[in-house]
Amino acid sequence: MVKIAPSILSADFANLENELKLLEKSGADMIHLDVMDGSFVPNLTFGAPVIKKLRPHSRLPFDVHLMVEHPETFLADMAKAGADIITVHAEAAAHLDRTLSEIRKLGCKAGVSLNPSTPEDVIEYVLGNVDLILIMTVNPGFGGQSFIESQLDKITRVKQMIKGKEIAIEVDGGINPQTAKQCKKAGADILVAGTSIFAMGEYQNNINALR
Ligand code: DX5
Ligand code: ZN
Repeated sequence: MVKIAPSILSADFANLENELKLLEKSGADMIHLDVMDGSFVPNLTFGAPVIKKLRPHSRLPFDVHLMVEHPETFLADMAKAGADIITVHAEAAAHLDRTLSEIRKLGCKAGVSLNPSTPEDVIEYVLGNVDLILIMTVNPGFGGQSFIESQLDKITRVKQMIKGKEIAIEVDGGINPQTAKQCKKAGADILVAGTSIFAMGEYQNNINALR
């Protein structure tokens, strides 16, 4: 069954403790945490100190999506703060192979993310150090954007590329019940969603609708 990872980017930032509890009760599989630096992407969110404060309020795995330049700078702090998965962007990591093995050395699962314009070939030689591939289905930086259809092809290709390996495919951006279906069909294992979980209605119904 496909896993659902709500992105707290669209949650009530003034009440995150409560939001985490609600998500757990509503059947979320993990919590997706979008870390943005205002440089790799044109937006700012939060960093390790906030994640550390959130950690005691949820039993779900923390899936940290680093949309930052020089991601290697933040790995140890993210691991200490309680990240279970740390995902870096292939476009931001100059020495991607080293960065991914450092994440594993810190005891976390290593994820690599691809912007919509980045071809999947760039990760071909690092697959031995990867636990998760995050395919961006919007240009990262903001919630509430429209799904980019061309990425369905990338999901299919990545699925073929990782055949026989224990690597999860996660998709992020513009996921709603329709696009969720398309992504699952193409090979996605984990769906990240912000707007379609938080914007209206009950979280539990919204999560069920995606699943
Ligand atoms: C975008 C973030 C996403 C975002 C998804 O840069 O990585 O995780 O919160 O939001 P929606 O589901 O609204 O597209
Ligand atoms: Zn994200």
